[in-house]
Amino acid sequence: MVGPSLPRSQALDELVITVVVDNATDTLSTVAPGLPQHPELIGHLGRVEPTTSADGHECHEVFGHLCVACHGFSVVATGRVGEETHTVLFDAGPYDHVWLENAERLGVDLAAIEVVFLSHWHWDHSGALPAAVDAVAAARASAGLSPPVVDLHPDRPDQRGTKTGSGAMVLLPPEPSFEAFRSAGAEVVTHSDPHTVAGGFFLGSGSIERRTRYEAGLIGHHSFRDGVATPDPLIMDERFLAAEVQGRGVTVLSACSHAGIVNACLAAREHYPDAPVDLVLGGFHLAGASVEPRIGETVADLAEQIDPAVLAPGHCTGWRAQAALAARFAPDRLAPSVVGSTYRLTAG
Ligand SMILES: [Fe+2]
Repeated sequence: MVGPSLPRSQALDELVITVVVDNATDTLSTVAPGLPQHPELIGHLGRVEPTTSADGHECHEVFGHLCVACHGFSVVATGRVGEETHTVLFDAGPYDHVWLENAERLGVDLAAIEVVFLSHWHWDHSGALPAAVDAVAAARASAGLSPPVVDLHPDRPDQRGTKTGSGAMVLLPPEPSFEAFRSAGAEVVTHSDPHTVAGGFFLGSGSIERRTRYEAGLIGHHSFRDGVATPDPLIMDERFLAAEVQGRGVTVLSACSHAGIVNACLAAREHYPDAPVDLVLGGFHLAGASVEPRIGETVADLAEQIDPAVLAPGHCTGWRAQAALAARFAPDRLAPSVVGSTYRLTAG
């Protein structure tokens, strides 16, 4: 007997992803020819008017426009089929001013953002979300467009933290309330199951199934509800966002990968069983003493089971995992996620 088919987003002609917040800034490094990553400086060259000329060359003062990096993650993704486009904001990072200023420097069209999708309830992804939603809602209202939809997992904790070896709890600031988004003028929807997003151009996952033995959550992680902290190592409210580009495959945006980046990719592939995995971008959460032992198996399974065209690790991946991923995937399949960079995936 065949079960109900899993939702799948429409195949796109093009997918453009801009990293608005990430831990790292690195606009000088090159990537291998043919990789679909464009550095921040190149984008600014097209946006910053020349201030002078020298020897017949226009001079653009781009270094005064570089984005700010900080611990967190946010991307804007635009899908296109023919002339039709749909844009999603995936997380907003922690600080209002960082998101707002980076978005301005990158020329993000706020009015184009139809859906704001939160990966999971952690402040380094949700802290700036009310301010971002406020700005998007205002831009859309000025353009005569409908309010943005804010897509959240319903199981919202009040606050989260991780118990350290000394017994102290390292806390993240409190999570924004549903009301914070409604009062910004947004329409709030909650989803714990997979569903298509933004005109069917994207797929939002439900809770991510845990299949690998070693991707066992975040040891010591706790969630606070009504003043009570309970162990919550699995963070089952985490969701990824996926999109398929015709002839290339499925892109997986996984903000923190507490479920494990291999588990996230395996789950995404169930929705697109005949498509190869194209770009895998986000935080792989392999930094920290409790998760660093997983680096070897993660890298091996990414290579042998997932076989992505391009890996773009960023945010909470950590230097040990970045080095191990580079040893296995660079130069031809590695283009790390750094603030301000753009990935343009065009149908093959
Ligand atoms: Fe994170």
